[in-house]
Amino acid sequence: MGLEKYGHFSEDGREFIITRPDTPAPWVNYISNTRYTGLVTNSGGGYSFYICPKDSRITRHRYNGLPWDRPGRYVYLRNEDGDYWSLTWQPVGKKPDFYECRHGMGYTQIEQEYGGIRSKVLYFVPQDDDVEVWRISLTNMSHKTHKTHVFAYAELCLGHALVDLINQPNDQHFNVVKFDREHELLYATKNYWVTYSGATVKQPNQAWNKYVFFASSLPVAAFDGKKDAFIGPWRSESNPIAVEKGKCGNTEITAGDACAALQSEITLAPGETRELVILMGIVDREGYSDLAPPIAEKYRDLANVDAAFEGVKKYWDAYLSVAQVETPDPRMDLMLNAWAKRQAWVTFHMHRTAGYYHGGLLFGTGIRDQCQDLQGPLMAEPEVVADRICEVLSHQFADGSTLHNFFRLTGHGEKTGHSDTPLWLPLAIMAYLKETGDFEFLKRVVPFQDEGEASVLDHLTRAIDYPLSNLTPRHLPKFGPGDWNDTLDYVGRQGIGESVWVAEFLCYIFRESADLLDRIGQKDKAAHYRSEYAQVAAALNALCWDGEWYIRGTRDDGGVIGSHTNEEGRIFMNSESWAAISGIAPEDRARMAMDSAYSMLNTPRGPKVLHPAYTKVDMGVGLATRCVPGKKENGAIFNHPAAWAVLAECLLGNGDRAYEYFKKTMPINQAYDPDLYRMEPYVYSEYVTSPDHPTFGEASHSWLTGSAVWFLRDGLDYILGVRPTYDGLIVDPCVPAEWDGFKITRKFRGATYEIQVLNPDHVQHGVASVQIVSDQSDKSDVSDRGCLLPLYKSGVHKIRVIMGKKEEEV
Ligand code: GLC
Repeated sequence: MGLEKYGHFSEDGREFIITRPDTPAPWVNYISNTRYTGLVTNSGGGYSFYICPKDSRITRHRYNGLPWDRPGRYVYLRNEDGDYWSLTWQPVGKKPDFYECRHGMGYTQIEQEYGGIRSKVLYFVPQDDDVEVWRISLTNMSHKTHKTHVFAYAELCLGHALVDLINQPNDQHFNVVKFDREHELLYATKNYWVTYSGATVKQPNQAWNKYVFFASSLPVAAFDGKKDAFIGPWRSESNPIAVEKGKCGNTEITAGDACAALQSEITLAPGETRELVILMGIVDREGYSDLAPPIAEKYRDLANVDAAFEGVKKYWDAYLSVAQVETPDPRMDLMLNAWAKRQAWVTFHMHRTAGYYHGGLLFGTGIRDQCQDLQGPLMAEPEVVADRICEVLSHQFADGSTLHNFFRLTGHGEKTGHSDTPLWLPLAIMAYLKETGDFEFLKRVVPFQDEGEASVLDHLTRAIDYPLSNLTPRHLPKFGPGDWNDTLDYVGRQGIGESVWVAEFLCYIFRESADLLDRIGQKDKAAHYRSEYAQVAAALNALCWDGEWYIRGTRDDGGVIGSHTNEEGRIFMNSESWAAISGIAPEDRARMAMDSAYSMLNTPRGPKVLHPAYTKVDMGVGLATRCVPGKKENGAIFNHPAAWAVLAECLLGNGDRAYEYFKKTMPINQAYDPDLYRMEPYVYSEYVTSPDHPTFGEASHSWLTGSAVWFLRDGLDYILGVRPTYDGLIVDPCVPAEWDGFKITRKFRGATYEIQVLNPDHVQHGVASVQIVSDQSDKSDVSDRGCLLPLYKSGVHKIRVIMGKKEEEV
C-alpha cells in the first residue's frame, strides 16, 4: 500500500491528515509566531524554544533516546476506575478507537477516541503573544457520566540547551519552579545562563532572562514542578506516578529537574462536550509576575483563543495567496500552492537549526542557508526579508568576508572561511530588488561585524571583491575548507585547490551584479565585473572542461575531483548545473554537461549529487568520503542540487527533463513507499538514499533543507516561468511538451496578475504571444515587449500567454 496507509492531504491541500498514529518516524509540524516556536509531532512529541533553540530552550527533547519522540506536550486523562491515557496516543500509547492528526499551516490538531471520550487537542502559537495554546475539547460519547482528571504536562529545559545536555544535573541546581496561587500559574526559570557556545569554560554571572509560565483555563486542583515527583522513580512519561495515583504532589523546586504539571477535574455527562485551554508561555524575567497573568487571562477565554487561531489562519491565507497555480499535475499544485511555501517559511525562520534531525545546538543561522531560504517569504513579506538581509549583512566583515553562521539571540558566530559564503549576500540583495523594485534599499546603512558601517550596495560589492582578491594564479576561486558542499572539507584547506562550482557561482554573481550596477549608473564597476566574468569563464573552459562535463575542482595535492580520470566521484551535479545557470558554458557544452549528468546521476527517485559514490576514505577530499556510499553528500539523491538541475534544464529549454526531475523529487512522489521512505511526505527531505546503498529510497533530514525554496522558485519562476526582474514580471515557461497549459495568479508589487498559459503546439519552451485580456487601457498584444508584463502597481490583470514559436520564427 502506498502513502494512503498513513494518511492523505485534505481537499484544499493545506493539511496533511495522518490516519494512524504509528507512522514510520515521528512526523513533524511547526507552530510558531517567529519568536516562540514549537515542534509538534503526530504523537504529541516535540520541543519549544524562544528565538534560538540553543540559547533559549523552553522544553526538552531527547535525541537518540528510546522510547522515540519524548518528551512532548502531554495531556493525560484518568477516569474514576483508574484507567488513564494520553490525548495524543503517546506517551501512554493505548490503542485509540479513533485517531487523526492534522498537520496544517501553523497548527496541529490531534483527534482521538478512547474509553468513551472523544478528544481534540489543537496546538498553535498566536501571532501576537509568545505563548503556545493547547485548545482541548472533550466529548463524552458514552451513556455514563465520567468524572475525569486532566493532567497537562511538559518537561522543562530552561535556558541553554547544550549546557543542560552536557552538565546535568549540575545545571538543574539553578532551576526554580513555583506556583502562584493568586493567578493559578506555574512559573519556572533558571538562575544561571550561559550565552556563548564555549559552554562551561567561563561562568557568566547571570540568570536566564526569561520566565516560563504554565496555566489552565480550569481551576487547578494540584500541580507539580518537580519532574521526579510527577513521573516517579524508575518510571517514564508512559506511566507517571501522579497520573496513576490520580494526584499531583504540589511540588515546587528551588533546585532539581523541572517540569510543569497541572491537574484539574471535570465531569462529563453523557453526550456533553467540555472545552479547556492549557497555556505555556514565555515572558521577560524583569517584571514577569506582572507580564504573565494578563496573557494567561486572555487565553483562558475561549473566544480569544478562537480569535487568535483565526489570526493564524488569516496570516497563512495571505501568505500563500502570493502565488497560486493550477497545472495539469495536482501534486505540483499542492507543493507550489501550500507546502513548499510553508516549508520555505520554516527554513527562513528555523534555518538548519531546530528540526527533528537538527538538535538546535550546533549551527545557528547559516549565512549561506539564510540567503537562499529568504527567497520564499520574499514574495509575501519583503519588509521582513529586508530586515533579515540587513541582519545577515551585519555579520559581514569590512574586508568583505563573513561569519559562516551566527546565533540570532546572542550574535555569536563562527568564521570558517567557506569559499562560497560571502557570495550569497549579493544573491539575497538582488532577489529582494527584483521582487520589490525598491532600489532605495541599496542606500540603507548597516554596520560590519568588526568595525565601521556601509550601505547595502557597498556590502554587496565587498562580498564580491573579497573572493576576487583571493583567486589562485589560474584565476579561479580557492576551495578553502568547503563550498556549498560542506563535506568536501579537505580538498582545499591549504589554499591551493580550486572550486569549479564556486567559480561558476562567482560568475553568476558577476553577471547579475553587473546588470544591477549598470542600472544604477555604476558603469565602471559593472564593466570590471564583466571583464572578470570573462576571465574566470575562460579559465573554467580552458582548464576545467573534462571532455563531456566540467570537473568539480582541483585539490591541494594537485589532483582533481569530478573527472573521468577519477575512479570515484567522477561527476558532480553542481558543476554541471551551474555551468548552465551561470552562462559560462558555451551552449553545446552546457547541454553535453547536463546530458552527462542525466545519464550518470539520474535515478528513479531523482538525481544523485555525485557518481560513483566514494567507497574508500580519501584524505584529500574529506567528510563526503567518510559517509556511507549512497547517503548524505556521498552520492545520495540530494534534493538541493536536484533543484538546481531543474533550474539548469529550464534555462536550456528542456521542459520535459526539468519536469522529470521536479516530479521525481516531490516528497509525495519520493514517499511512494512510506515505510521505506520514513520521512514526512508533505515536505522535502535533505536527501533520499540512492541505489548505492541497500536502503535505497530511505529519506532523512526532513524540513530543514534549501531544496524547499529552490523547488518553489523552480516551479513558479522557471517551469511556469513567471519570474520577477528589475523591470517587472516576465513570463517564460518551460514545461513538459505534453502540457496543454496552466494558470498562475501572482501578486507582484501591488498588482495581481492572473495569467493563463496555453500550449496548443505542445512545445517545451517559447512564447508566441502575450495578450492583456482584462485591461481596458491596454488591450494590445504585448509580445513585442518580449515576455515582460506591464508593471501595474495595483488592480487585477488578466493575461493570456500562448506558447509556441513567435510568428516571425514560423
Ligand atoms: C547542509 C547545509 C548546507 C550545505 C549542504 C551541503 O544542508 O546546511 O549549508 O550546503 O548541507 O553540504
